[in-house]
Formats: sequence, structure tokens, C-alpha cells
Amino acid sequence: MPVKVGLCGLGTVGRGTVRVLSRNAAVLAHRSGVGIELVQIGARNAVPDADTGAIPFTRDIFAVATNPEVDILVELIGGIEPARELVLTAIANGKQVVTANKALIATCGNEIFAAARARGVTVAYEASVAGGIPIIKALREGLAANRIRWLAGIINGTSNFILSEMRDKGRQFADVLAEAQLLGYAEADPTLDVEGIDAAHKLVILAALAFGMPLRPDAVYIEGITAIQPEDVVYAGELGYRIKHLGVARRNGEGIELRVHPTLVPERSLIAQVHGVMNAIMVKGDAVGATLYCGPGAGAEPTASAVIADILDIARRLDGGGRDATPVPGGGPDAGEPLAVLDIAAAESAHYLRVSALDKPGVLSQLAQILSAHGISIEAIIQKEPAPGQDHVPLIMLTNRTRESEVRAAIGAIERLESVSGPVVHLRKEALDDA
Ligand SMILES: NC(=O)c1ccc[n+]([C@@H]2O[C@H](COP(=O)([O-])OP(=O)(O)OC[C@H]3O[C@@H](n4cnc5c(N)ncnc54)[C@H](OP(=O)(O)O)[C@@H]3O)[C@@H](O)[C@H]2O)c1
Repeated sequence: MPVKVGLCGLGTVGRGTVRVLSRNAAVLAHRSGVGIELVQIGARNAVPDADTGAIPFTRDIFAVATNPEVDILVELIGGIEPARELVLTAIANGKQVVTANKALIATCGNEIFAAARARGVTVAYEASVAGGIPIIKALREGLAANRIRWLAGIINGTSNFILSEMRDKGRQFADVLAEAQLLGYAEADPTLDVEGIDAAHKLVILAALAFGMPLRPDAVYIEGITAIQPEDVVYAGELGYRIKHLGVARRNGEGIELRVHPTLVPERSLIAQVHGVMNAIMVKGDAVGATLYCGPGAGAEPTASAVIADILDIARRLDGGGRDATPVPGGGPDAGEPLAVLDIAAAESAHYLRVSALDKPGVLSQLAQILSAHGISIEAIIQKEPAPGQDHVPLIMLTNRTRESEVRAAIGAIERLESVSGPVVHLRKEALDDA
């Protein structure tokens, strides 16, 4: 008997999923061992085409969640409500669930996984992080032997596209954003992408899985890319770095750092070579060392690839009668590990500081003294010539790895100097090679 799938949402990912299910039906039947049959589609509007035309359609998505014929409900409508209600209804009706919805998993996942555990069904969410890259599977299965020390990822394609264009062509943020919207890489309202919220949702899911902790969307420190200025992209390059928007989850002895922000990464690192809308995630395990997963983080068929992999997994298990024993977010901490999410003040990284300072002797030593008083050393520095008619010059410094609270205190003291004008530009830097 084929496994019967009900699919809700017929947008970019929904259409891609129907198309790939139809195109690869024979191979999927072979791989699942039982066949996969799409028995119902629910969405607001049906636009029948060659792939969807023959499949029963309903405007009532809850009819799919309660349809006795459906084994697996695939949620591709997006957003929180009614997606949450839909998924909980499906679980209550004993359906297995597949979703691509990062916002839903990050914000309501604790409730959803608890309901699924109680009902003995699976909620699979591979497509919710980094589209086509099988990073959830890598963390759940391939890296299961490891204690994860840290992970860091380019997990928002829109932000990566904008930063890549700013670097390659010296363009301004607003100008590239407008093009990204025209190309369909950025939504009409790009806030979730460029303010880092979408990346934070994905980071929360990855961290919960990597560290066995509950999903904590409230605890992520978030900075987007809207304040990145072209000169900082250039100065970072002169120092041998590229600016990438990273989500970082890291154990630091006291607890877990969860942070999303623009980050300088060494230009020779593999992750620095990930351009445009591509995504990449580095994961450092205690046994395997550093690993890198790279690929398309969005798009109809790349995301469908992940959705269908989840459907196949569930189909195989249903066929074998086995139980899903692999971990889910919040499945439990590694033994003895502190899982408190740390305030950003307790996070540790290296830092990039750009100071607009008076071009006169003694100013540099004032800055060095302030940094030193906070236990911070300067690892590299660039001092530019003053522009014609200007008495201030940009001073760009890279610091050693240090606690955020110390850097913030030092920045406050630097900004109070009479010889310094305007706010200090502050970015973080990660070597991505530490233990
Ligand atoms: N697009 C990607 O590349 C990508 C990648 C990874 C993950 N995802 C995730 O995949 C999910 C779907 O994304 P998408 O890009 O495919 O979205 P989309 O193109 O906006 O499609 C959403 C579909 O769901 C329907 N829908 C929304 N609310 C509904 C409701 N209350 N009742 C019935 N139908 C409803 C929409 O109908 P209308 O068109 O009538 O509104 C549309 O058919 C989201 O959770 C997203 O975060 C997307």
C-alpha cells in the first residue's frame, strides 16, 4: 500500500514538491519501498496544472488534517497561524507531519514536539533550515557520535546575496536590496531577512538539535545587515577578511552563545567562498573536527528535495513499523552540559572596530590604553590618510578574542574621548578554527 500524503500550501515550495513527486514518482516508489501517493491538496486557491490537476483539492486545509485517508500531512503554508493549529490538528488525528516552516518550528516547536511525542507521531522539518542542504539529517544522524562544540552558518540567502554584491561591486546596501527584490531573492517586506530574524529562527532550530536544548527564539542576540557600510567591506578585505552574516551557536564553558550578526571571516576560509544566495553551515564536533555543508538554501525544488526526503524517511518507517528514535530539538541535553543561553555580554569573539579619530600624535596610544585597560589587545590596525579638508581619519583595529562586555565598555570609553568623533563601528570576527 502506498503511503498517502496530504499537502497544504501551493506556493513556491508546495508547487515544487508536487512537481518533484510527480517527476520522480518511479524512483521514489523504489526508494520508499511502498510508493508515495498524493491524495489531497489544500490551499486558498487552486491553479490546476499538469501536476496538480488530477489530485483532489480543497480550500479547507483542516479537511486535509482530519482526512482519514492521509498518513502524512505536509505543511507548506508558512507563518505561525493557522499553520500551528493545522499541525496540532494533524498530530491529534494521528498524522505524521512534514514542514518547511522555520518560524513555526522555532517559535512553537516545543509545544508541537511535545504533542507529537504524546501521540507517537513524527514531525520532520529538514526543509526548515537551509533549504536543500540536509543539515538536520547531518546533525541528527551523521554527527550523532559527537559533542558539538560550535556551529556557524550563512543561513539567509538574501543577506548573503546583498553582502556578496556589496563586496564584489562596491555597491550600497539599499541599492542591492532593491535589485534582490526585483530578482525575487528578497520579499516585498525584507525585514525578516535583512534584520536577521529568519536566520535567528534557523539558528534556534540548529542549536536545539546540536545541544539537546529547548527551542529558545527569545534568547538569540540578533543584528541584521542594514547598518553595514561599503567602507567596512573594503577595510575588512584589506585586513584579509570578508563580512558574512552568520548565525553562531557555541558552548563557552558557562553556557550556550546564540547570536546572529555580520561577522568577519578569514577570506581563505571555505565559508568565505560561499557567494550569492547559497547557504553554508560549519559544524565542529569533538570527534570529527570541523565539517562544512553547502548548497542552495531556498528555491522551489531545492526545498522540495528536503521536504520529500522527510516524506521518504517517514514512509520507510511506516512500512517497517519502526519507531522514530532519533533526537528532536529539546530532546535532552548532553550529560552534564550547562544549557543556559548566555547574554551577549558574556559571548566571546574577536572584534573589528572602526574609529573616526583626530589625526594628531597620541590618539592611537589613548585608544590602545583604553583597550588594554579592558584586557583587549590589538592584533591588526590600519590608519588611513585624512580626506582633503578633514581632520579625522578612520582607524581600523582587529582585537584578540575577548568578552563582549569588555569590548562594549571599551567602546563607551573611546566614544567619550574628545579626539574621537561619532560612534565606533563594531563588528565581530570569527576564526572558525578554535576548539
Ligand atoms: N520559498 C523558499 O525557498 C523556502 C525555503 C525554505 C523554507 N520555506 C518555507 O516553506 C513554507 C512555504 O513557503 P513558500 O515560499 O512556498 O510560500 P508561498 O509561496 O507564500 O506559498 C504559501 C502557500 O500557502 C497558501 N496559504 C497560506 N496561508 C493559507 C491559509 N491560511 N489557508 C490556505 N492556504 C494558505 C498560499 O495561498 P495564497 O497564495 O492564496 O496566499 C500559498 O499557496 C514557509 O514556511 C517558508 O518559510 C520556503
